[in-house]
Amino acid sequence: MTDTPNRRTVRIAMNGVTGRMGYRQHLVRSILALREQGGLPLADGTVIWPEPILVGRREHALKALADQHGLDASNISTDLDSVLADDSVDIYFDAQITLAREEALKKAIAAGKHIYTEKPTATGLDGALALARQARDAGIKHGVVQDKLFLPGLLKLKRLIDGGFFGEILSVRGEFGYWVFEGDWQPAQRPSWNYRSEDGGGIVVDMFPHWEYVLHELFGRVETVQALTATHIPRRWDENGQAYEATADDSAYGIFQLAGGAVAQINSSWSVRVNRDELVEFQVDGTHGSAVAGLRNCRVQHRSATPKPVWNPDLPATETFREQWQEVPDNAEFDNGFKAQWELFLRHVVLDEPYSWDLLAGARGVQLAELGLKSSAEGRRLDVPELSL
Ligand SMILES: NC(=O)c1ccc[n+]([C@@H]2O[C@H](COP(=O)([O-])OP(=O)(O)OC[C@H]3O[C@@H](n4cnc5c(N)ncnc54)[C@H](O)[C@@H]3O)[C@@H](O)[C@H]2O)c1
Repeated sequence: MTDTPNRRTVRIAMNGVTGRMGYRQHLVRSILALREQGGLPLADGTVIWPEPILVGRREHALKALADQHGLDASNISTDLDSVLADDSVDIYFDAQITLAREEALKKAIAAGKHIYTEKPTATGLDGALALARQARDAGIKHGVVQDKLFLPGLLKLKRLIDGGFFGEILSVRGEFGYWVFEGDWQPAQRPSWNYRSEDGGGIVVDMFPHWEYVLHELFGRVETVQALTATHIPRRWDENGQAYEATADDSAYGIFQLAGGAVAQINSSWSVRVNRDELVEFQVDGTHGSAVAGLRNCRVQHRSATPKPVWNPDLPATETFREQWQEVPDNAEFDNGFKAQWELFLRHVVLDEPYSWDLLAGARGVQLAELGLKSSAEGRRLDVPELSL
């Protein structure tokens, strides 16, 4: 870290910044947004000034990014080893494809860098736990992206839980998904590796890590998992228009039993058309009230305002049920969720503030994905053992 009286520069090696997540959410919406606002201000008047070093495989792509965003051309590299050997680099960030992550994180921890990384942290639980142990032994700081926790809709849901709105929480129903085009007559809107298990793809590996921390943090630790996966679209077309076999699951129907007694059921699918208000929605039903939270919005129905429908298939619906819910107000300004989590991680690194979304938390996500796939393959419900290092 380079310190001047008013500025503490934190140099961050960012690997995978040409990708969807690395570029848009982490580089542009988080790190560059922090620089545009003048850095991250601290209580004593100093600012944390993040300085990205763009790391990747294709020099021309990195150079184009640096040019486009006015970054110093000396801050790009295709040689991860030399970047990690540079003592002025404080943090290694990874948003590469999932398969490339574990090796890169291992190297970065061995080089003594703090780690911030996309999920899943590894392709299997053993690898994820090994990373968490290596990081603990090295004494570095580490964080794993858990962006959904910082979405306005889920922050409002958390507010309702903390305020006791629900009474006893009985169940959580999640619907996530949208139609991902096959790629033949319209290009797919997600990378093709997502649909090949040999390349680290699959919706369980992608989404169960998110469901693990959302359920754990809001409702209770996941104690059992029962999942059924499917590859509904077996043939897709890649970025070059070439047909390929989709070997990974594109849909997963999961049931999770939570500590505290609630049951969660989450459908995840890239082969579903959206008839919802948002691309993900969670309905929470409690004894005293219910809520439906999406990415941004959250609406509620209290027990005192709950209608009393009577089942009669002979008559058309007499009520417009969706209109009987009340919108939860923002009551705050919500920043981009990725940026909000980056800020907490930077404060953790610089100020040593507590931070719980670490590589052990990341390993829990990998564990749930692994057990979800196993549950589906074996056709049974599985316990999710509590992890420790
Ligand atoms: N937090 C979230 O909400 C969220 C959402 C989507 C993806 N992700 C995670 O982010 C990571 C990247 O996903 P993405 O959708 O941005 O993928 P992407 O394909 O758009 O980007 C992948 C990046 O990895 C780089 N890369 C390194 N080695 C590679 C290789 N051998 N082959 C191909 N690319 C290679 C690419 O150059 C690119 O920069 C994944 O691990 C994924 O799980 C997280």
